[in-house]
Amino acid sequence: MKSLIVYSSQSDNTKKLADAIYESLDGEKDIFPVDQAPLPQGYDMTFVGFWMMAGKPDPKTSEYLEKLEKGDCLFLFGTHGAAAGSDHVKNAIDHAIGLKNDAEIKGVFTCQGEVNPKVLEKVKQKPEPPVWIKDADNAIGHPNGKDIQGLINTIRSL
Ligand SMILES: Cc1cc2nc3c(=O)[nH]c(=O)nc-3n(C[C@H](O)[C@H](O)[C@H](O)COP(=O)(O)O)c2cc1C
Repeated sequence: MKSLIVYSSQSDNTKKLADAIYESLDGEKDIFPVDQAPLPQGYDMTFVGFWMMAGKPDPKTSEYLEKLEKGDCLFLFGTHGAAAGSDHVKNAIDHAIGLKNDAEIKGVFTCQGEVNPKVLEKVKQKPEPPVWIKDADNAIGHPNGKDIQGLINTIRSL
């Protein structure tokens, strides 16, 4: 089993998930930031991780997902300021799934990720703050050990 882990991360939350996946996997494995990542041809499973921006996967990950093809097996993971299971997150996951062409989704895991405090303060000041901001204070300290365990359990149950 040969695995590829591709991730995008500005403030390391998503990288923490990517590193945990890498550590947990047996067999041949490679890990790359998205802007250095190869396409998945030749890999049995590709784990693609995004951080959420403006209700969607970040632009670099979106671009990568659009290059996937039929025959690619995909596990999507991500972090966000919004509450897990919220409509905001569900819509973003649906959006990500819509980008992947005919690649086959084997699983999805997302959790909250602490929002950069400077960004958080700036966004809170907006006349009409985005819907996800109300959950962002609860994202402090995430991803934590429980999030990482949830991710690993999800992957092991595939
Ligand atoms: C510019 C910017 C836009 C963001 N937009 C959203 C958003 O639309 N929805 C959301 O839930 N979180 C949003 N976030 C929060 C991040 O997705 C979250 O903190 C994530 O864990 C960051 O991951 P990283 O540390 O891997 O970069 C935004 C953060 C930034 C900096």
